[in-house]
Amino acid sequence: MKGKILVTGGTGFIGSHTVVELQKAGHEVVIVDNLSNSSADVVDNIEKVSGIRPAFEKLDCTNLDAMKGLFEKHKGINAIIHFAASKAVGESVEKPLLYYRNNIVSLINLLELMPKYAVEGIVFSSSCTVYGQPDKLPVTEEAPIKKAESPYGNTKQINEEIIRDTVASGSPIKSILLRYFNPIGAHPSALLGELPLGVPCNLIPYLTQTALGLRKILNVFGGDYNTPDGSCIRDYINVVDLAKAHVFAIARIFENKQKEKVEVFNIGTGQGLSVLELIHTFEKATGVKLNYKIVDRRPGDIEQVWADPSKANNELGWKAETTIEDTLRSAWNWQKELRKRGIQ
Ligand code: WQD
Repeated sequence: MKGKILVTGGTGFIGSHTVVELQKAGHEVVIVDNLSNSSADVVDNIEKVSGIRPAFEKLDCTNLDAMKGLFEKHKGINAIIHFAASKAVGESVEKPLLYYRNNIVSLINLLELMPKYAVEGIVFSSSCTVYGQPDKLPVTEEAPIKKAESPYGNTKQINEEIIRDTVASGSPIKSILLRYFNPIGAHPSALLGELPLGVPCNLIPYLTQTALGLRKILNVFGGDYNTPDGSCIRDYINVVDLAKAHVFAIARIFENKQKEKVEVFNIGTGQGLSVLELIHTFEKATGVKLNYKIVDRRPGDIEQVWADPSKANNELGWKAETTIEDTLRSAWNWQKELRKRGIQ
């Protein structure tokens, strides 16, 4: 079944790639975004990539009246993919109330409106941060939720609970929670990618900006962890592969294949890579030498986490396909494209 999908945060990094994959799968897409961390020209680039211009509304999901107006204007929305959220771990520590209001009120508004407008299901953008430092690796969906290390991570945990409680209260909606590991890379066209405003906190944008000479040196946060080379380990998932997981989730909802009304899936490759391994892989894949140095640990970082993606592979029918080398090359091509366009 093809449907009409509301993508909140659809001009963002993962949102924009997901819009393209939804369009390729034959769905009609409506984007809502307040452009607090992205720009409207992403809609133009989505159209260039897919050949289809999605409807776009510049609105804030925390504004209930505005969201009511959206559903009135765009009749017949069948499902929602909810990306819109503030997502900087460090900033969430400095401004917790902004994160709680933005990330939680926006979800509450959507859940309240869904039954009123016969919206069948919601795919929620969650994160592996809910696991904290897992006791066992690779981490499965059954792993215990650990106390969040930041208000950002806490909003993901709280939102998962809000969805469960809403469904348990008898709301007629269905939900799939996708727990992302570390999304990286860019669209092969180099028309879509991660556009960090200011100094990037995440590893890959900082790494590619260093490779381009925008940053003098890449600091590796910690070389004394209990890992083979002393640096932290993560599960880096290609953003296009991640986007495709959302198409599988939407299909599962429309085809009534869910085994429970709220399902959880880890969306990762199943392979852990250390920061130093990633740096060396980037150098080999692009031929670009990176200037980096090992410095003190970053507070709040967990030591190592990577997914057991077998539930998503077997039940969702989704699997990460892109190699880390191609993913890092796509990130590098995107960085060079930003320079060409005079953006960075
Ligand atoms: C990865 C590794 C750093 C920058 C966060 C959120 C998670 C998700 C992804 C939104 C760590 C190291 C980083 C640098 C470094 N966000 N690093 N030098 O912290 O694993 O996850 O972003 O959904 O929810 O928690 O990602 O890219 O910041 O760090 O050495 O300049 O790279 O210490 O080991 P993280 P990250």
